[in-house]
Amino acid sequence: MHEIMPHRDFIGYLKSAVIALVIVSGLLCAVYVWTYRDGIFSAHTAANQQTNLLASGWDHMPGVTPQTSGLHVTHTDQAIVQQDGSPGMTNPSVNLYGTHLYADGDYSLTAKISDISGSAVLRVFGAAPLTQDEFYTNPRNIELVINDTSVTTNTWVSNRSRNPYTQKPSNSTVRSIKQSPSHTLSIKHTNGQLIIQIDNATIAQQRYKNIFDKEVWFGLTTTAPNDSWTLQSLDLTTNAPNRVFAVNTTASTVQRAPATDALQTLANRTRPDFQVGAAVALAPSISDNNYRNLVYGGQFGSITTENALKWQFIHPQLSTYDFTDADNLVNLARQHALSVHGHTLVFGEANPAWVLNLPTKTNTDKLKVEQIMIDHVTKTMGHFKGRITSWDVVNEPLSDDEDTIGLRQHKWFEAMGESYIATAFRTAHDADPQAKLFINDYGLEADGERWDTMLALVTQLKKDGVPIDGVGFQAHVYEEADKIDVGTLRQHIRQLADLGLVSRISEMDVYSDDGPDVQSQQYRDVFVACFDEPSCMSWTTWGVTDKYNLYLDDRGRIASGQDYLWDMNAQPTPALTAIQSFLRQ
Ligand code: XIL
Repeated sequence: MHEIMPHRDFIGYLKSAVIALVIVSGLLCAVYVWTYRDGIFSAHTAANQQTNLLASGWDHMPGVTPQTSGLHVTHTDQAIVQQDGSPGMTNPSVNLYGTHLYADGDYSLTAKISDISGSAVLRVFGAAPLTQDEFYTNPRNIELVINDTSVTTNTWVSNRSRNPYTQKPSNSTVRSIKQSPSHTLSIKHTNGQLIIQIDNATIAQQRYKNIFDKEVWFGLTTTAPNDSWTLQSLDLTTNAPNRVFAVNTTASTVQRAPATDALQTLANRTRPDFQVGAAVALAPSISDNNYRNLVYGGQFGSITTENALKWQFIHPQLSTYDFTDADNLVNLARQHALSVHGHTLVFGEANPAWVLNLPTKTNTDKLKVEQIMIDHVTKTMGHFKGRITSWDVVNEPLSDDEDTIGLRQHKWFEAMGESYIATAFRTAHDADPQAKLFINDYGLEADGERWDTMLALVTQLKKDGVPIDGVGFQAHVYEEADKIDVGTLRQHIRQLADLGLVSRISEMDVYSDDGPDVQSQQYRDVFVACFDEPSCMSWTTWGVTDKYNLYLDDRGRIASGQDYLWDMNAQPTPALTAIQSFLRQ
């Protein structure tokens, strides 16, 4: 017994040493993680130290140009238009790809603004607004509107049960101010209160509950298109620098999915030429880590620009293009080695009011509309040449009205008749001869008039030597009647292959009302059908997590569905598992 005591002591000593080592390295890791969290550039400022928020991270904001005097702010003119052409919602420019605050404590923000020509709008959001093409979510925010004589403070409290088009601020105050070449605005977040001041005079004071929880995102714009102003400085002061700090999202990193789970990685084992894609938006790519990890961490090999490249966002006026947020999204994808499918160039929807109002009566009118379409395709594809490798050149050309068979009677058809399609493809090919060019529509999976019309159309295009590479089957399954018969789908894919055309499943999502079994069966069957057909080149799902499965219901309120592969909490659904197990076989 005695003899082995020292040995035991030694083991005991060793054990304690190992435990101590584990604790110390654990602590070191924690400190390391704390210090090197994504993109934080001021976690270690001393208490009450001021951080100059304009120091970096404002180069990718729509309508905003960094200059030596500060940020020059203009209006982007981007608006979300209702499809009957009536005015829609404004779409305020927000600094997503750049600087925002993590703010879990008290702080104050001081902004110096000058050179106001017309109006200045400074908006602080408690969450990143999400832009869709029919509405944008207007999360809790305070909007300060300043002109020569007054400052208006609007408080918006997020209210999903309201139609976003008619939502009003929960609180609004107007104060007169003295005309002056510059103003100092401050927002103090202190002891459960928000105190807003201009030139040291208090203009609003309110409880901040439900306005700023943890994040602050900055919106800068004007009320009218030709107005402008300068944000000379924007400073953050806090006593809690470890809980309130600036984050530059251009430095955000991505956590990769295990190779055994990642759809694209699994697909590569049998079909390295095949792409698994998702329709993606910028705001959640930036503001939601779960979403970012899923999209950019190996599950997908490509993205489709869900709304970012729709005409109303990138071409808000005849001679105004704004590719800033679309560039942010495309660059993000490319940084993570994902390819980008451009959606969409010529479409009857998501067009700005100026397009919807173009006359098409006379020949001159018609030629003008044609030229506008040609310019849009040329300019947009030229801008993304080499970065976007395939495009939906013409989206949803088929009639939406079940009683009228044939082509949709939208602006482009009114001006050019059926020839708008060939013209769009020829223009697209001239703009980027390398890009793969697609026509894309829904309801092509089943036999019937829609399919017959599409098949006749692409047969004619091929006969005429029009440069078209393939057809996108949207594969939206919104209700039982939409359910896809995979035998028919495969037959259609083969008919296209016979014409020398490739196929893609371009926008798949499946309703959940009939339960997870029906949903996962549809997802899996359609995926398999495409994967097993050599001419079906990619399968794209129209969304990622159910958190962003948002739409406007019959009463115009924002509603949410459960149609995607990951649920509200970014957890895998049975549909995802079903596709993964097919690919693992
Ligand atoms: C949808 C978007 O996903 C929504 O965010 C938007 O509000 C409406 O448009 N067919 C298409 C896509 O080609 O552009 C549509 O996208 C879905 C149907």
